[in-house]
Amino acid sequence: MVDRNYVIDEMISAKQIAARVELLAREIKTHFHDTQQLVVVGLLRGSFIFIADLVRELDLPVEVDFLEASSYGNSTESSREVRILKDLRGEIAGRDVLLVEDIVDTGYTLSHVLAILRTREPARLEVCALLDKPSRREIDIKASWTGFEIPDEFVVGYGIDYAQRNRNLPFIGSVRFTG
Ligand code: PRP
Repeated sequence: MVDRNYVIDEMISAKQIAARVELLAREIKTHFHDTQQLVVVGLLRGSFIFIADLVRELDLPVEVDFLEASSYGNSTESSREVRILKDLRGEIAGRDVLLVEDIVDTGYTLSHVLAILRTREPARLEVCALLDKPSRREIDIKASWTGFEIPDEFVVGYGIDYAQRNRNLPFIGSVRFTG
């Protein structure tokens, strides 16, 4: 699997992403306009570039925390078993929280992570996902804000990997296997 040959076709350009991130930040600001401080939680590892760009566009008092969950390992298929590998540093009880995800695919990761965060009783808990693959959904769940809906193609770049590679591409590309 990991040794297969592939090429990457650009699907969403860096410029398109930047424009969309700006709009998402505006909508999030409107929603949380009265917050004392918004805890922006990046779901590692895939969201690290998205959250960096999003918080810089977000004109609100924010703090940043991270949570690491993993379901895919080095495979292109979800294991449907979501593991928390690294928990938040801070408390979120009674606080406004924005969970930032790179992609919602089957929905298992988001559903599992949201269930955990809800038990901690945040005041408000919303989700912003850069990408959504609705055709792959197995659990009925949707982010509060979505950057782009995409078809069922394996994507990389802007934080998203294939076997831990290609996270550093500035655009979202689709992987085309050639051998
Ligand atoms: C990927 C991605 C999402 C999740 C989406 O994470 O970052 O968190 O899968 O898939 P799902 O909706 O089918 O659960 P991965 O486990 O590959 O970890 P990573 O973010 O560290 O790459």
